[in-house]
Amino acid sequence: MWTQCWLDYNNENKNVSSYEDYFTTLFVDGFKKDEVITTASDELSLASKGMFGRAIDVDIALPDKGIVIKKSEERTLGKEGYRIYCEGSRAYIEALTPEAVIYGTFRFLALVRTGALNGDTDITEIPENPIRMLDHWDNMDGSIERGYSGNSFFFENNDVIINDRTRDYARLIASLGINAVAINNVNVKDAATDLVNPRFIDKVRQMSDIFACFGVKLFLSLNYAMPIEYEPQSADPLDEKVIAWWKNKMKEVYASVPKLGGFLVKADSEGRPGPFTYGRTQADGANMLAEAIRPYGGIIIWRCFVYNCQQDWRDLTTDRAKAGYDYFHSLDGEFDDNVILQIKNGPMDFQPREPVSPLFGGMKNTNQMLEVQIAQEYTGHQIDVCYLIPWFKQILEFETYMNDDPESDTTVAGIVSGRARNVSLGGMVAVTNTGNDENWTGNDLAAANLYGFGRLSWNTKLGAEEIAREWIRLTFSDADGETEDIITRILMGSWPTYEKYTAPLGIGWMVKPHDHYGPSVDGYEYDRWGTYHRADWEGIGVERGPEGTGYSLQYNSPNKEMFGDPKTTPEELLLFFHKTPYKHILKSGKTVIQHIYDTHFEGYEEAKKMQAAWDSLEGRIDERAFKETRRRFELQVANAREWCDIVNSYFYRKCGIADEKGRKIY
Ligand code: GCU
Repeated sequence: MWTQCWLDYNNENKNVSSYEDYFTTLFVDGFKKDEVITTASDELSLASKGMFGRAIDVDIALPDKGIVIKKSEERTLGKEGYRIYCEGSRAYIEALTPEAVIYGTFRFLALVRTGALNGDTDITEIPENPIRMLDHWDNMDGSIERGYSGNSFFFENNDVIINDRTRDYARLIASLGINAVAINNVNVKDAATDLVNPRFIDKVRQMSDIFACFGVKLFLSLNYAMPIEYEPQSADPLDEKVIAWWKNKMKEVYASVPKLGGFLVKADSEGRPGPFTYGRTQADGANMLAEAIRPYGGIIIWRCFVYNCQQDWRDLTTDRAKAGYDYFHSLDGEFDDNVILQIKNGPMDFQPREPVSPLFGGMKNTNQMLEVQIAQEYTGHQIDVCYLIPWFKQILEFETYMNDDPESDTTVAGIVSGRARNVSLGGMVAVTNTGNDENWTGNDLAAANLYGFGRLSWNTKLGAEEIAREWIRLTFSDADGETEDIITRILMGSWPTYEKYTAPLGIGWMVKPHDHYGPSVDGYEYDRWGTYHRADWEGIGVERGPEGTGYSLQYNSPNKEMFGDPKTTPEELLLFFHKTPYKHILKSGKTVIQHIYDTHFEGYEEAKKMQAAWDSLEGRIDERAFKETRRRFELQVANAREWCDIVNSYFYRKCGIADEKGRKIY
């Protein structure tokens, strides 16, 4: 059996007893019979059984006490907003649509379980982002690309699995307000081809129906090159035969899966064919599919992860960081209105720290979505603890200076939510971190990233610590205040610590190639992926200012000038933007090389402190979670040690400058 993460109602603490009266009766007011409303009422009953040992009675008239799910008349709530309030002995969940009732119901239960509901409660919450999505990189054979928590729970032995876990997963993500999920790997053509073919289409429909009961739309990753293998023998987006083939395919797919949200596409990327293969633009490719899917209300989510992955390390002018902007920004305004560009947070690839992609703020008339990765590919494989929400908040708050209008919110959050331009398509997506492990996310603490991403994509103003504490209260519901503080401190310190013991000052990479866990300073230096640190005996960093690759020029002013000059570049990104001498003095008064030594020793010490803090929780939290996480902390400390040793001795040997503090570096 698997855990229910933050939705386990069976291990509640005393907090909830004061709410017992609400859980006597449920009255649904104004909504017709509907499968989504049924899901909400089942959830309330399940919670009641877990918390108070009995189901809720469903009443046909307004009860004196109980929960009322009410159809609202308040148009401003939109299709996903809700209002929760208490009146006497009744608690109300009001919304315009059944989907919003689901979100409101889960929120109501979270308020109850964290003791945050009271007689004065009257909250209205409307999601900030239209699309709040999770992308799975699950393959038909059951493996998961960059999966660190077991195998897929969607696929096994080249078949689709539908079981209780499917429903439990839909429930988990709906509780966060997630409203879209792509279940198959965008990198592998097999699943993308199979799932839209007759053999599996019925199972895809069943899956989509299960998700729909929770207000979540199913998406599939699509094989853009698919018609090459069929009669058109081409994927040229302007070829009539290809266009007709896709129209027909979409008709067939939507006849079987009418609730499908649309498709996610990776084309012209890392070996996958795309419109470039035929001398066409990315907009030609995306729009062709968008037209085919338009009659069914579907959308095409088009990834911008397009770059030359066959670079020669001797070529000092090509810069992978520039590729996304170079390929897409001149197409601004050319994408159909049912296309969304899915843009990775940084210009490279999910490193622990990167500047925000200049495509945000570089396209004024294109739907955009922010893509982050909670699968910890470069942030510790869900062995090392790395709570990413503080990092995501910095990305969302980044000011792009997209236009001069002081009224418009041109931060990344403003752009992707559609606020900056008043459009209704956009949002946030995470490459997700779940698998068929008992606890869903491998490391129990990695569930905080899933929880946090969901909550943040609903409301980007929530604080990273606030979210962490909420997750802890719901997950370790018997935890006392001190336990909560200890886990909060571990989570909040974990990303800075991880950054310290891995690659310094924004340079990134230095990981073991392909696997991406553990250090290998030169692992990617002479490889074809365009990921360099350019360290020599004098200094380290890639010169991306105006005199270098010119990457900094892709930003709007004043970011352009700020990143273009080493004096004004934020130091945490210094080596990303500038080749810097080891003896350069940072604001702290330390040289770059001393900073590298110090942060690596500190990172290792901090990892040990986190481990000790976790050990102090023995007997105070669920035993399974305690032991499993303790095992991972042992590995994390060993990893931090290895990084510290290898990075420090690499740079010591490169530059010959000794550690001022005289510590042993080999
Ligand atoms: C990274 C990752 C790949 C993945 C790619 C993507 O490069 O290592 O496994 O294919 O991102 O985002 O598509």
